[in-house]
Amino acid sequence: MSHQTILVTGGAGYIGSHACVELLQAGFNVAVVDNLGNSKYESLRRVQQITGKTLTFYQADIRDKAALTEIFAKESPSTVMHFAGLKAVGESCEKPLLYYNNNVYGTMILLEVMDESNVRQLVFSSSATVYGQTSLTQYSEDFPLGPINPYGRSKAMIEDILRDLSASDKINPNRSPWKVALLRYFNPIGAHESGLIGEDPNGIPNNLMPYVAQVAIGKLPQLSVFGDDYPTPDGTGIRDYIHVVDLVKGHINAITALNSDAFKDGGCKAYNLGAGKGYSVLEIIAAFESVTGQKINYKISPRRAGDLAEYFANPALAFKELNWKVEKSLNDIVADTWNWQSKNPQGYN
Ligand SMILES: NC(=O)c1ccc[n+]([C@@H]2O[C@H](COP(=O)([O-])OP(=O)(O)OC[C@H]3O[C@@H](n4cnc5c(N)ncnc54)[C@H](O)[C@@H]3O)[C@@H](O)[C@H]2O)c1
Repeated sequence: MSHQTILVTGGAGYIGSHACVELLQAGFNVAVVDNLGNSKYESLRRVQQITGKTLTFYQADIRDKAALTEIFAKESPSTVMHFAGLKAVGESCEKPLLYYNNNVYGTMILLEVMDESNVRQLVFSSSATVYGQTSLTQYSEDFPLGPINPYGRSKAMIEDILRDLSASDKINPNRSPWKVALLRYFNPIGAHESGLIGEDPNGIPNNLMPYVAQVAIGKLPQLSVFGDDYPTPDGTGIRDYIHVVDLVKGHINAITALNSDAFKDGGCKAYNLGAGKGYSVLEIIAAFESVTGQKINYKISPRRAGDLAEYFANPALAFKELNWKVEKSLNDIVADTWNWQSKNPQGYN
């Protein structure tokens, strides 16, 4: 087990770099494939600094089939952790072709190379954005899917492809079966407790926590809170936030599950990775102010189209089958975000 090599696509990125730390600490060999389109090699230098271990880095695009084939031949991975992808909802509406090309076509190439290399074990970064809108606020894996933007649809399409592949095992009994965990993330935030790696958004952050952190440090003047007239206790939107280190630990547990008897005949299964509890925007601001002692300058703005009042994960299945639940509190999340932001005001630059 400990000599397995895990091939991590997108390993230089925010979540991937934290996954590399946990994988190395758990005794796996790690090979990263990243085109550095939205990341810097510095994150991986720091991963090796934190762990005192080395990993192998390939600067390559997952759409480059020849390069990928060569990497698989060299590394013989047991499992692929697939983080590589573009993730900005707004940009995906502006450039859908770019998103379908990078995310869907890129994953197709990866899957072809995996299939041809007889590597059929995959942990995939899906997202809570694949769920359709319902009147219920707590999302379970069996909810109907119905993403509402190209980014979310690219994730749902990849999930469909993976379910089809797994279903094709029955009529291809002579090959090893596909073993796939679709991990549907809620809102990953926070940073490694060392303060050496964290989220380093390009330009203006799309997500609440890095935005708040940049207001606190004076890089951005003011936070806009979109809507304070939702049917929630304080009127602001409620989301399920999950510490990135808790999130990546769920990936390690997924590898254990895929290696276990539960998946011995293959399978493709979705798991929510979330806390199972939501916080409002004003609660996040208050937690940030109390943990850091910094005042957050914010103003109330109109609601944004497409935003829901409230949703959060039902994480019971991941608890039952992956033996996983979140361990870190909102205060841990805020303290680690602030530690990273204040030690690295310019990110990795
Ligand atoms: N951060 C979130 O809020 C969130 C939520 C749900 C799902 N996800 C998914 O998790 C994954 C990781 O997200 P993240 O926040 O770490 O993003 P990130 O941008 O920090 O990391 C993605 C990495 O993939 C690389 N990459 C992108 N396209 C590539 C390609 N064609 N070939 C090789 N490398 C490529 C980028 O350079 C980057 O290092 C993504 O698939 C994202 O959609 C993220």
